[in-house]
Amino acid sequence: MIKPLQIGTITVENPLVLAPMAGITDVPFRRMVRENGCGLVCSEMISANGMMYGAEKTLAYLSMTDAERPLSIQIFGKDPSIMAGAAAMAEARGADILDINFGCSVRKILKNGYGAALMKNLSSAKQLLEAVRKSISIPLTIKLRSGWDASGEDAVALARIAESCGVDAVAVHPRTVGQLFRGDADWSVIKAVKSAVAIPVIGNGDILTPGDALAMFEKTGCDGVMIGRAAISNPWIFMQVTARLENRPEPVIDLQNRLGCVLRYIDDAVAAYGEVRASRMMRSRLGWLSKGLPHAARFREDIKSIASRDQAVEYVSDYFLQAENHLARNTA
Ligand SMILES: Cc1cc2nc3c(=O)[nH]c(=O)nc-3n(C[C@H](O)[C@H](O)[C@H](O)COP(=O)(O)O)c2cc1C
Repeated sequence: MIKPLQIGTITVENPLVLAPMAGITDVPFRRMVRENGCGLVCSEMISANGMMYGAEKTLAYLSMTDAERPLSIQIFGKDPSIMAGAAAMAEARGADILDINFGCSVRKILKNGYGAALMKNLSSAKQLLEAVRKSISIPLTIKLRSGWDASGEDAVALARIAESCGVDAVAVHPRTVGQLFRGDADWSVIKAVKSAVAIPVIGNGDILTPGDALAMFEKTGCDGVMIGRAAISNPWIFMQVTARLENRPEPVIDLQNRLGCVLRYIDDAVAAYGEVRASRMMRSRLGWLSKGLPHAARFREDIKSIASRDQAVEYVSDYFLQAENHLARNTA
């Protein structure tokens, strides 16, 4: 049942995609999920304006490593020439795929006319897509929401326009702009988009378990699934989904395996950000990766004081050992 996902000229080995998530999907996180079964990873949304102004902080989001490939870089903005310039810059820096954000609906983004605000005016959206398409030769994708009402008509209309402009795939997060993350994702909108276009459609929204991923494929006919929040605390979910799709027993990610990934993640973060910043980041990030383990709440308290790489390694190694002993005692 596992079929590669073809996005323009790029063949993605499996149809499982990491959702772009601001503050989360950086180089260390993307490398971790790629190594654990995810087919395609995406950067967080990057400001096209910031890129064109050469803002150092913005340009840092364009960091990438070969271990993550294929890598999609997501940009946001509204001005066709600025977006085209930013897209060309992402390609020049090594992006394999360029994605445009048509879905973000946080107030600051909407107020500036970015993200889901672009779904309000489809003729401007078309101009934007035409300009970006002309500026790059790598595959172009978009990520959108249902639109401004629950009907999903905005999503279908934009997907059709995108296809006519040479966009190679579309990811659909079927919540309305006003919903933000409230309520349930309405997967019927993914199905409607899939029936409307011939380019690959990637479904997104509320996949928490491998069974949910399977259900999304079955209910919507989508070509790929995109997983966001569930991957934050379970970056191994992609290999679990693969097993499910191949009708194999779900692999057990034992604590030793898990610890190995976490230790590598710490070192990757130090390499990416330097020890001081990485240590600060580990104060929350190691907490995500302990979700569901015994005494995780206490561990999350303990790690708030992490100040060095060695301390992060020590805390996490001790904690995983204790968790393993606890689980062994309780299953004995
Ligand atoms: C912390 C966080 C940051 C996000 N940042 C982005 C982003 O930069 N670009 C984007 O298109 N979507 C962003 N999203 C939305 C996700 O890509 C995804 O559409 C949404 O979380 C629904 O998928 P899920 O139910 O699997 O989490 C973000 C979501 C979260 C939770």
